[in-house]
Amino acid sequence: MSEFPTLQDIVLAAKQKLPNATWDFLTYGSETETTVRRNRRALDSLALVPRIMRDVSEIDIRTSLLGMTLRMPVVLAPVGSIALFDPDGALAAARAVEDFGIAHIVSGYADPGFEAVAKGCKAQLIYAFHPRYDWPFVDDLVDRVVAAGYRAIAFVAEAAYYSRRERDLMSGIQTKAKRTRPYAEWLGLQREERAAGKIPSKEGLLGTVITWEMFDRVKRRSNLPILLKGVTCAADAVLAREHGADVIYVSNHGGRAIDHGRGSVESLAEVIDAVGRQCEVIVDGGFVRGTDVLKAISLGAKAVAMGRMQSWALAAGGQAGLARTLAIIEEEIIVNMGLLGVNRLDELDRGYLAKTDPVALAHPLSAFPVALERIGG
Ligand SMILES: Cc1cc2nc3c(=O)[nH]c(=O)nc-3n(C[C@H](O)[C@H](O)[C@H](O)COP(=O)(O)O)c2cc1C
Repeated sequence: MSEFPTLQDIVLAAKQKLPNATWDFLTYGSETETTVRRNRRALDSLALVPRIMRDVSEIDIRTSLLGMTLRMPVVLAPVGSIALFDPDGALAAARAVEDFGIAHIVSGYADPGFEAVAKGCKAQLIYAFHPRYDWPFVDDLVDRVVAAGYRAIAFVAEAAYYSRRERDLMSGIQTKAKRTRPYAEWLGLQREERAAGKIPSKEGLLGTVITWEMFDRVKRRSNLPILLKGVTCAADAVLAREHGADVIYVSNHGGRAIDHGRGSVESLAEVIDAVGRQCEVIVDGGFVRGTDVLKAISLGAKAVAMGRMQSWALAAGGQAGLARTLAIIEEEIIVNMGLLGVNRLDELDRGYLAKTDPVALAHPLSAFPVALERIGG
């Protein structure tokens, strides 16, 4: 994969290979796309403050999450429509992760299905559970996840309603969730499915019911560690801790759920202040580079998850493209740790950060100025 010297080459290759509607579906977000842009703006509003005159000849970026060893503090976020970017979908991602030595959170919507992914590799896998108000469905699914050998469950709480993604509504792209259909058509379909008994009566017509009761039940039934995905404020972080979440996963769904949310990194600081070191905290939303990862670790996160970067990498070059991407991110982390003057991740703290003004207009590609110039906003 020497054809990809940089992450920018990978993004450019993804843009070239994907049909426009698929590129837009992957890259952008809901309604005004303010949350997507704020994810980047929040990261771009943090400057790194290096220390000098230190021996940084041996840098170790290994860490652990829920007892899993991670070669670097990065995991792959759940991506439901991953097969749009590579025909092997979540299996390609899991195999890249297995070779590299990190972990993959497999979306419940991902092809070729969570059981096939577990059978096809020996990667460290977490299952992303999308709740549904239907106890027999929940119990059965949890049992299958446990039987398939998943190490933990990420309970996805931030997407009770499928957001209005205007680029997708305009292009008419059909994804697995089918919900990019016009609103009236979708509503009609749901009414028909409910009348036929296919949707539990407690489900809302456009959304789903997600409760702490359901979270507790998944935790009890699976007896696996649980990550709560979608926490963005101190109050929910405290509740998550009270309900025994093993990992608090700060996420605004990459700006694909609520619009006009805060940038993820702003939420991260608030969540860590609320729960301290009592829970492991991970975060996603706008993270694409080694320096982004170092900012989250300096704020107190254990690891960072990547959704779009993973998907661009698969689109650019399949499993090998993702392997190359992980290798570049690893190199960026090592180089920038050396330049920051630290040898180990646990030496990083907020003293290595300062608030600043972003130098570029916030955009999902603002970390890639050359690619952005060539692709256009
Ligand atoms: C194409 C795509 C599909 C996604 N599908 C899911 C999903 O099925 N379940 C889920 O919990 N999150 C899903 N997400 C959200 C990611 O898990 C993650 O929260 C988000 O992508 C992080 O932001 P980033 O893309 O800027 O890294 C998806 C994201 C993308 C880009």
